[in-house]
Amino acid sequence: MAGVAKEVVAGLSSVVLGYEYEERLIVSALLANGHVLLEGVPGIAKTTLVRGLSRLLGLGEDVVFELGGVGFRGMSRIQFTPDLMPSDVTGSLVYNPATRDFEPRFGPVFAYVVLADEINRAVPRTQSALLQAMQERSVTIGGRTYPLEVRDRGKFFFVLATQNPVEQEGTYPLPEAQLDRFLMRIVMDYPSSLETEKEIYRLHMYRLTEPVEDLEPVVEPVWVVEAQDLIAREVKVGEGVLEYVTRLIRSTRPSIFHPVSKYFELGASPRAGVFLIRAAKAYAALKGSSEVEFSDVDAVLFPVLNHRLIPNFERLVELESEGERFLARYRLIREGIEYVKKSAAG
Ligand SMILES: Nc1ncnc2c1ncn2[C@@H]1O[C@H](COP(=O)(O)OP(=O)(O)OP(=O)(O)O)[C@@H](O)[C@H]1O
Ligand SMILES: [Mg+2]
Repeated sequence: MAGVAKEVVAGLSSVVLGYEYEERLIVSALLANGHVLLEGVPGIAKTTLVRGLSRLLGLGEDVVFELGGVGFRGMSRIQFTPDLMPSDVTGSLVYNPATRDFEPRFGPVFAYVVLADEINRAVPRTQSALLQAMQERSVTIGGRTYPLEVRDRGKFFFVLATQNPVEQEGTYPLPEAQLDRFLMRIVMDYPSSLETEKEIYRLHMYRLTEPVEDLEPVVEPVWVVEAQDLIAREVKVGEGVLEYVTRLIRSTRPSIFHPVSKYFELGASPRAGVFLIRAAKAYAALKGSSEVEFSDVDAVLFPVLNHRLIPNFERLVELESEGERFLARYRLIREGIEYVKKSAAG
């Protein structure tokens, strides 16, 4: 299991350079059966990451799997725009003159991997259609409900949505309450060093096509469901780690741990704790270990918690007036999480 997972990460990092941590997180989210919100400025290979992941799993955009009368695409991409309708995401009934009957037309959400690009540009009604499908893992068309996940047939359902945090004009930021449909919110920054950035240019220097197009599958799609089940069942969480996670979650709550109100208005829910453990297990499995260590929890802590915490409003305004608007939010939450980490460990 870990061998294949490592190959997937290695494949990703051969085409998207300098983001191995983020790549590990994305694969961990997949193996924890969660969805991902990827935030970052344009042009840092967000789309390339998703295309790469799909290809490595044998799920290209051109592959279709027939399951129970529904054709599921390997991967589909939905560009969210202000005029996108809910039925453009999920599907609708269409009239077929030949049979004189209505038939379902399955939308792009009928896929293994769904890339929801720039999700914050669609109107809330359309966003909700996707978020509901993610939550329920099924879609209703014309009164009939179709599953998007069929575990005993190896059909998983993984959504990766992207959002540009800088450009807020004419967008509809996802409401806080809906953000927790995503197991992780991964914040991607520019390449970290000059050396890494140079490597990126070297990779593209003598070619016009995308390196991601050369990626070959390393495994069958059915592997994902098997690996998910294996991790859920087999990766151990010791008493010490369980205690640590519980302390972490509880110390994000100002009502329980007053000093944290410097950072947060509202802390994490028990659901956040359940997800934190799930993500840490997948992250541990990816390294090849069969038991979660404290460092696995720490590695997934920010991505699992950052979008579930409501920052202290006054501190946020203060920080925003000092510098870049969207960075202030990440910074305050990051500082808060660091603070919580220290208190939970001590
Ligand atoms: N770290 C990287 N390693 C390799 N290639 C990269 C990297 N960053 C960017 N690129 C290249 O830059 C181009 C832009 O990538 P991509 O379209 O995936 O970005 P994006 O983040 O999805 O942008 P947008 O927000 O505009 O959709 C691609 O050709 C990609 O291969
Ligand atoms: Mg893109």
